Amino acid sequence: MSDATAGWGARHGDLDVLVVGSGVAGLSCALRLASGGLRVGVLTKGELVQSATRWAQGGVAAVLGGDEDSTDLHLADTLAAGAGLCDVDAVRVLVDEGPVRVRELIAQGARFDMGPGGDFARAREGGHSAARVVHAGGAATGAEVERALVEATHQTAAAVLEGWFALELLVESGRCRGVRSLPPLGADGAPAPAVDVRAAHTVLATGGAGQLYAVTTNPPESTGDGLAMALRAGVPVADVEFMQFHPTALHHPAMPRPLLSEALRGHGALLRDASGERFVDELAPRDVVSRAMAARMRAQGVEHLWLDATGLEAFGSRFPTISAELEAVGLDPASDWLPIAPAAHYLSGGVMTDLRGASALPGLWAAGEVACSGVHGANRLASNSLLEGMVFGARLAEAVLDGVDGPAPTGVMHALLDGGSDDRGPLDAAPLAQAGSAGTVPPPGDPSGPLDAAKAREDLQRVMTSGAGVIRDAASLDGAARAADLLRKAAPAVHDRASGELADLLDASRAVLRAASVRTETRGAHARSDHPDTDPAWRRRIVLSAGRVAVLDELVAP
Ligand code: SIN
Repeated sequence: MSDATAGWGARHGDLDVLVVGSGVAGLSCALRLASGGLRVGVLTKGELVQSATRWAQGGVAAVLGGDEDSTDLHLADTLAAGAGLCDVDAVRVLVDEGPVRVRELIAQGARFDMGPGGDFARAREGGHSAARVVHAGGAATGAEVERALVEATHQTAAAVLEGWFALELLVESGRCRGVRSLPPLGADGAPAPAVDVRAAHTVLATGGAGQLYAVTTNPPESTGDGLAMALRAGVPVADVEFMQFHPTALHHPAMPRPLLSEALRGHGALLRDASGERFVDELAPRDVVSRAMAARMRAQGVEHLWLDATGLEAFGSRFPTISAELEAVGLDPASDWLPIAPAAHYLSGGVMTDLRGASALPGLWAAGEVACSGVHGANRLASNSLLEGMVFGARLAEAVLDGVDGPAPTGVMHALLDGGSDDRGPLDAAPLAQAGSAGTVPPPGDPSGPLDAAKAREDLQRVMTSGAGVIRDAASLDGAARAADLLRKAAPAVHDRASGELADLLDASRAVLRAASVRTETRGAHARSDHPDTDPAWRRRIVLSAGRVAVLDELVAP
């Protein structure tokens, strides 16, 4: 059912639950809630299938059998990749409940690749000590997961609001009551006035913010909308300095960048520098590989390195979608080394939630990439993202069905609710450097008048790529913050989806830049050339809340 009229609220009354976003987390949650008899709405700015989920390649990391593997090993690998910032309880939930959720998804119609013996085909990816990544269509896992979930959602009574852009959380008397939202354009192309879509519970499942960067594997929809709405409403957000860069995006003008799945390295593909030398363990966690690549590119003065997949057997049948993408750009993996460079891929932090998905604001929940559940820490382990969406989307739904109505001191919420914090000033504090010292960051054009939203978005992406990329420092972050401030001042008022996405990207950029400048160490996906070491005293979360920045007192358990 699609409803595109401004009278939606008046005609439908309040929903029990409004899910904003239609990827794996949002639909896993909506399906359960609708099956539980609640009045559910799924609001998405595109079509239901248009989520970052369908771009996910490698697969789902879950221990579904195999003598050499165990959930304890999966837990240990996730903690190691997360570089000391994972919440152990959250990871335990992830690895223990993951296998059940994968089997449920299969029961809902998802088809995973099977091996010759009739068991799941399993791949190994970076940071995993065993081959435990199950996949579909070779490296088209997200597309299959999304297909199955969309089809299942259409079988339920959930109301689907496609083409609706969420502007702001409705917060009344200390509780979230839904979202203010722009309906789709009218038949004559005219914008309709904003509508309040009201619900007893609101779930943010809006995905990530890869569009902050000029080079990203994320689709155009990944504009940090849920994160920005939470920030504007003062809801605590953490770990946003950890934007993960995927090491092996194809170096090609296409945007989003075609991804050369980590599974290729799991099958034996090699990384080579400009001289053809290997320089890093191909199966190290992603942050390690991306950082080594960025350093090598800088040292050799090149814009890309190489992935050598010439030794892989049956490339075309094992990776049909990647094979087709390479063929389309005239590359043959059997004979050509493939040009690659890191690209913004996944925001490890987000809206802080307890172990059942509740945020600090009663009535507001979050799951998937928009959330900080504590499972990723400073660097997400490969193929844990679809898993997180299905595990925590389901947990959240069960909590709502159980009548839970606010956060508990579990997971990352424990330190927030029960501990103290060290205030580091306002979120929008002026950058530290003096005017004129923009470091390496190119200033945006001439933002003396209101900017076109598309142009401003490109400027911001350039600014973030130069200032807050794989390797940052105080000067680059500071220059980026000042350039982003100029863009914010010149941004058009929010009146449509393009200007709304720009506002969200600008607010998300401020959060990423502030957190990244406060964290004076190198950890996981946050690499500072001016603070190259990991500092044990920094095993703490940086929280942005109610317009301020704070560092939680409590050390994260190792
Ligand atoms: C990949 O296939 O390399 C991406 C999977 C992921 O981001 O976990």
